[in-house]
Amino acid sequence: MLTLWRNARIATCDDAGRVHSPGAVVTRGPLIEWVGDDADLPAGLRPERTVELAGRWITPGLIDCHTHLVFAGQRAAEFARRTAGESYAGIASEGGGILSTVSATRAASEDELLEQSEPRLQSLLQEGVTTVEIKSGYGLDLASEAKMLRVARRLEASNPVTVSTSLLAAHALPPEFAVRADDYIDTIISDWLPKIGARHRISGGPLMGDSPLSRPLVDAVDAYCENIAFSAEQCGRIFAAARALGLPVRLHSEQLSNVGGSQVAARHGALSCDHLEYADEADAAALARSGTVAVLLPVAYYALAEKQLPPVAALRANGVPVAIATDCNPGTSPCASLLPAMNMARRLFGLSSEEVLRGVTRNAARALGMHAERGSIEPGRAADFAVWSVESPDELGYWAGFNPCSMVVRAGEIVLERPV
Ligand code: NIG
Ligand code: FE
Repeated sequence: MLTLWRNARIATCDDAGRVHSPGAVVTRGPLIEWVGDDADLPAGLRPERTVELAGRWITPGLIDCHTHLVFAGQRAAEFARRTAGESYAGIASEGGGILSTVSATRAASEDELLEQSEPRLQSLLQEGVTTVEIKSGYGLDLASEAKMLRVARRLEASNPVTVSTSLLAAHALPPEFAVRADDYIDTIISDWLPKIGARHRISGGPLMGDSPLSRPLVDAVDAYCENIAFSAEQCGRIFAAARALGLPVRLHSEQLSNVGGSQVAARHGALSCDHLEYADEADAAALARSGTVAVLLPVAYYALAEKQLPPVAALRANGVPVAIATDCNPGTSPCASLLPAMNMARRLFGLSSEEVLRGVTRNAARALGMHAERGSIEPGRAADFAVWSVESPDELGYWAGFNPCSMVVRAGEIVLERPV
């Protein structure tokens, strides 16, 4: 069915950053057929349905390209300890941190995990998010990692959202492998990856039309490269194995220190390197050469009261594409809301409003290997977009706590309307 969405103002987020005001979009089923100025609508296009948008702004559906939103329990007590002065690394070294969420996640049934994770996804969907990346990493044994990834697929199956999954088995050392980190990496490589990572298309993200439950569990492989987690060499070994299976890779790197993560990720052509507070000029140059997206996670920076800012100037100077995400997780980023993350990227990291909007649309799509399918309003892309009751897109990332999203369209259908 052809639908005309008219009398809108459209931030296309295409290469040229085109804006159409007043503009129109024509969608055919789940895809965009045409976009342009209202006045230029081709006479040959005869829509069967017209939606009048009364001057509201349209952006591509937002993309949260880094979340850990499937987990059980919460870590409010740990947050209280951190606000009283204890460090994240100190709490982790006593068996808290990631491992405390691992215990809760292992203990939860698949249905319980789904039930606990669903409200976090719903919170993102209310803000115009139509694509979400979801990591494993709180299971740390094969069955529990697979359970998390199945929950991610089930969330997609029951909600108007596209989910891209990442296997983050190398997130922390599970108790069964204490002081045997290399054995753990070997197990992931020789046992887990072939079992749940195989049978994947080389191109990355899911194809439109695939049923989420029939897709392989893993879309990409992630790791946590840090002095409290895994070395660059260990992450490099996982990446080599993942790439051999045709899986793209991404990395948590330079969050608390610089142990060479971005350099290794760049050598493996990683889709993204995420966090990057401690990355330097040479890292920015390496990311630029490999076409890797820098994913900045300002809520984790904020919630950890981090002082080291990511090297935004070096990323810009080297032309590294920058994306922004929530990092939704119970430890460093208890946040299931992308709009405040956009606000923090502007206020704390000094990104412009245009950089932030690109960071949650086209660059976020690229971080997921999906930029040919989504992330901009262009003919042939997914008809996923958000409609905003704002005077200008500058208001996205201006409000620190208000949601001006009034409509969400996914695959050409209105999936949410809110009075704003
Ligand atoms: O992205 N850095 C490692 N992983 C998460 C934190 C996970 C947790 O503390 O539970 C992050 O910040
Ligand atoms: Fe993370």
